[in-house]
Amino acid sequence: MTVRIVIGAQFGDEAKGKITDYLAADARYVVRTGGGPNAGHSIHLPEGVVVLHQLACGVLRHGTVGVSGPGMVVQPFKFEEEMQDLERRGLLRGEVVLSDRAHVLLPVHEVEDGWEDDLRAKTNPAAAIGTTRRGIGPAYADRAGRWGLRAGDLTRPAILKERLELLYATKAHIPGLPPLPELLSRLSEVAGRLAPLIRPTESMLWDAVDRGENILLEGAQSALLDVDFGTYPYVTSSHPTSAGALVGSGIPPTAVDEVIGVTKAYTTRVGGGPFPTEETGEMGEFLRRTGGERGATTGRDRRCGWLDLVHLRYAARLNGLSSFAVTKVDVLGGLDEVPVGVQYVLPDGSTARDVLPSQSDDLAHAQPVYERLPGWPEFHERLKERIRREGARALPATLRRFLDRITEETGVPIEYVGYGPSRDDTVRLEPNPPPRRPPRLAAWTG
Ligand code: IMP
Repeated sequence: MTVRIVIGAQFGDEAKGKITDYLAADARYVVRTGGGPNAGHSIHLPEGVVVLHQLACGVLRHGTVGVSGPGMVVQPFKFEEEMQDLERRGLLRGEVVLSDRAHVLLPVHEVEDGWEDDLRAKTNPAAAIGTTRRGIGPAYADRAGRWGLRAGDLTRPAILKERLELLYATKAHIPGLPPLPELLSRLSEVAGRLAPLIRPTESMLWDAVDRGENILLEGAQSALLDVDFGTYPYVTSSHPTSAGALVGSGIPPTAVDEVIGVTKAYTTRVGGGPFPTEETGEMGEFLRRTGGERGATTGRDRRCGWLDLVHLRYAARLNGLSSFAVTKVDVLGGLDEVPVGVQYVLPDGSTARDVLPSQSDDLAHAQPVYERLPGWPEFHERLKERIRREGARALPATLRRFLDRITEETGVPIEYVGYGPSRDDTVRLEPNPPPRRPPRLAAWTG
């Protein structure tokens, strides 16, 4: 039995969907633990590309339960559309379950999100977060303010009406909200259709832990977008960390066996906020073009730059990573050298290596210090076939050196390497040292 957490170690879009889908092959439950329609997990199946926003990737596999967990903010109309789309394509193979504790994100929140980010931009263009405008911040704010509706409320018409009226009473200052009676009627309809999927999920998962089943917690967004530990205020409103995965599922820390951090071989970011190793010129354009770096949810171009070891050391310690999955190494294939950011020089002359400064303003003016590693060959189909046949020993030596440097600098072994978009383009390394096991609490002996 293994309980694994998959976490993004950068700013999102590290190909977590691909790694989670790879690891889901032997999981009985896959649980989305946070975020909502802001996420876009792209999975390249033989039948075509699927982008999952609110469903856990377990729904793509027979015999697997895909849980949209209690830590999520779920937009019910889009949730239903996502299911219908998969069904139409014949790809809805697993079971879909929606936690009764998940919060309901409404069109009201989407309007509010846009209104808020416009307000920030009007005050100061640099203050705009560049949110996905999917309503995430307002929905989590209502959760914390205890104005929110939960999925469980959808199944109780009287409570649904009461909670929606209360919510609207808090939002009179926001222009352009959809009329309440119309929203209530649409919600009541979708509620009837989603009701069979809504149930308590924490006890279901505790029982699965007791039975020794494999459970995968699928993080959305990433550690550096964490509302507390990321580059505040340029963050999302949830906790996309290993701790957040526990709160967002109800699984206790003592049940967890592995925490896998996913990182690209370089860095990307969507929206505003500091990015010390960003390349704004030709090289940034090369990475964007070669890596296909365009948002799966919003279609926005991603900002691109080099791998940043300050990020990875910080993410490793913050999440207690037991191993890394390094993705998109093929994108850098053919470069003579690969720069890697090892530390920053901050505006006051001090350096930062292990800990991300808490002030985004300091980060915005941080100067990265680079180590230049030798590049590796292009990933032609022949090389990919060799890796599929022979495994990790077919990886180019200079790429191995790059991976070893990540382990030397972070103390975290590399366990998986992604070298292309499809399900098959992932190779497992026999990591040396072996993956770290998060310490389990000793049994209480009284
Ligand atoms: P929000 O989550 O829509 O509030 O957006 C807050 C910030 O997080 C913005 O910079 C978004 O671009 C970023 N963000 C949110 N979700 C994702 C994601 O799934 N991938 C990458 N960036 C994201």
